[in-house]
Amino acid sequence: MKQRVVVYKKLPEHLTEQLQAEFDVTLFDRVNDGNRAAFLEALKHAHGIIGASLPMTNAMLDGAPELKIASTVSVGVDNFDLEYFKKRGLMLAHTPGVLTEATADTIFSLILASARRVVELAEFVKAGNWKGSIGEAQYGVNVHGKTLGLIGMGRIGGAVARRAHHGFGMKILYNNTRPNPEAERELGATFVSKDELLAQSDFVCLMLPLTPETEKMFGAREFGLMKRSAIFINASRGRIVDEVALIAALQDKTIYAAGLDVFEVEPLPADSPLLKLSNVVALPHIGSATHETRMAMAELAVVNLIAGLRGEKVPHLAA
Ligand code: DGY
Repeated sequence: MKQRVVVYKKLPEHLTEQLQAEFDVTLFDRVNDGNRAAFLEALKHAHGIIGASLPMTNAMLDGAPELKIASTVSVGVDNFDLEYFKKRGLMLAHTPGVLTEATADTIFSLILASARRVVELAEFVKAGNWKGSIGEAQYGVNVHGKTLGLIGMGRIGGAVARRAHHGFGMKILYNNTRPNPEAERELGATFVSKDELLAQSDFVCLMLPLTPETEKMFGAREFGLMKRSAIFINASRGRIVDEVALIAALQDKTIYAAGLDVFEVEPLPADSPLLKLSNVVALPHIGSATHETRMAMAELAVVNLIAGLRGEKVPHLAA
């Protein structure tokens, strides 16, 4: 009998067909209130699940007694409880590597957009307000030659640092669980304490995964240590930041601006004070969202899933 797979976020056609050739597949384009009951029903018989952007609670997984592997189309695994996977001996696969460069591009676009006020000024032009040469009130700040502080220096941090060093002549400071000798050698990156990084950086870029240890780790104290001219960038996970403290820091000009791709609650509620601030560039969690990269992520997630179900070595296991 074929093993059963539940797809909970639409995959490209050829990948769906590849799964259907080998498994009994139940498809959900995405899970919402309208189909949640059917999804939970399908979980009851699933050997493998694949998808993204759905918090997968332990209670939901308790309802999947035959499950062997969950394959997420993301590098982040914060939608799952890793301890639960370990305890149950379940595999959790993810998609590192293939999204590194696209995500670093997004982060750099946030750096440039918030420093040069690209979104605000583009809206100014579209609204028909460009009546004469712009004045000081609309100037931005330089990016080239400034100091970039990376909190977390994994693959994506390294790719951001490369852009900053080679493309923009920036000085790189970083803080990480362990030193990164390659970044030090090749990019002149300097390992400093978190507080020193906050005090010296013109751009503070949060590059950490969301875990119980990092949740809400960045708050009023951290914003208070930053330069008043500094720009805060976050494309990792919103829940690492105390968003109330971030809003206060932006409103009272404790920091100059923020470029954000992620938020405590996503989609960002329309009444969020962040949307009223001209010194905020807000994106809808597009870190890896290019056609090429999302395709590569889906392909890798399918490879991971199939390997797990065939009892072969899974290329990228997070648990
Ligand atoms: C990831 O891959 O973790 C991205 O943030 C998309 O969720």
